[in-house]
Amino acid sequence: MKTPKLIGPLVQMITLSGLPIKGALKDEQLEVIENAGILILNDKIIEIGDYKTLLRTYRDRRIKKIEVKGAMVALPSWIDCHTHICFAGSRAKDFAMRNAGKSYLEIAKAGGGIWDTVQSTRAADIAQLKKLTASRIQRHLKAGITTIEIKSGYGLMPSQELKMLSTIQMLKTPADLIPTCLAAHMKPKDFIGSNEAYLSDIQHKLFPMLKTHHLSNRVDAFVEQSAFTPEEITPYLLGAKAQGFDITIHADQFTTGGSALAIKLGAKSADHLEVSGENEIQALAKSDVVSVALPGASLGIGCAFTPARKILDAGGALAIASDWNPGSAPMGNLIAQASVLAAFEKLSTAEVFAGLTFRAASALGLSDRGVLAPGMLADFNLYAVEDYQEILYQQGQLAPVQVWKKGALVKFKEA
Ligand code: NIG
Ligand code: FE
Repeated sequence: MKTPKLIGPLVQMITLSGLPIKGALKDEQLEVIENAGILILNDKIIEIGDYKTLLRTYRDRRIKKIEVKGAMVALPSWIDCHTHICFAGSRAKDFAMRNAGKSYLEIAKAGGGIWDTVQSTRAADIAQLKKLTASRIQRHLKAGITTIEIKSGYGLMPSQELKMLSTIQMLKTPADLIPTCLAAHMKPKDFIGSNEAYLSDIQHKLFPMLKTHHLSNRVDAFVEQSAFTPEEITPYLLGAKAQGFDITIHADQFTTGGSALAIKLGAKSADHLEVSGENEIQALAKSDVVSVALPGASLGIGCAFTPARKILDAGGALAIASDWNPGSAPMGNLIAQASVLAAFEKLSTAEVFAGLTFRAASALGLSDRGVLAPGMLADFNLYAVEDYQEILYQQGQLAPVQVWKKGALVKFKEA
């Protein structure tokens, strides 16, 4: 029998417990336990509360005390529910051209855009892709992000999509990786036939393989005039649902239509939403679809942020993710992006923390994390600060000093 570990004393523990999945939040609603302790066994939390009380309660039982030196604030570890970090190559040229005022079409003509990354990623072998993805995972882990969704979508043919998703499956990391099939990212330029024919090919040739090899339970699609229209994608997503996949959609990034489809199909989340208007916001707020803001894409493209304030005020569930990808969101610093979004959209710390923890978990259909409470996974970060407000204030520059994943301290090699 393993020995429970008691970690503390912690100047503050922000549990994120007892908060609703939807709607605006005030910082006064945050549960802050001062002089706290956390008792864990194996991968789960057994108890949290006042450190001295926990010491007293367990004094006659065998527990391992892990005393913390100096002021330390504890929070659930972060969840990034939308990334594209399995890729090869760089699109620095796209970024420079965009900033120099070139249009989407001009960039595509110069060999840029998603298709550029598809070619680099197809050319990479599994070992190369593993190495590139692992280093990005490591960066996220150091920032205290221990659950990371990763999309395919740079293979765009069954064998290459399988390569990407197999790479993700093979990676050994303390982080939980949630693979999502984004074969509907765009119709590949070398596919001869209609958008519908491409989607049907994927559905019939790839989906069964994903199930057989347990490569993914989630299907994503880029719903946009330049990718797939709601009409083209509906049979594909219905097929995916019928085969047991959860659905998520890249929605309302440049034109609307995607979020309405996400609601109609009962998607777990609708992500992007930069151009969502009043109708879309109200409809999302009434639904169970989690709205995912991707401030990294707004910063990478130079466009408006997702109307996060309006979504929350309308009663919606808002998660915040990095969208880390080589094209629109190359930065990959989720906490910096969330802090910037908070400053521009006027989000409370509680709303940002919720969006990076249990609301992001909900976008992924996970109910075992994102909150510090008995029975939940022991996934938490310790920051060497006196007050939790320092974390967003430092806009991504403050890294946790300890990252715990499933009850184990994540070990980092010295840089
Ligand atoms: O989420 N919008 C579509 N897909 C990605 C961009 C991917 C890329 O440019 O490589 C996004 O922004
Ligand atoms: Fe994306």
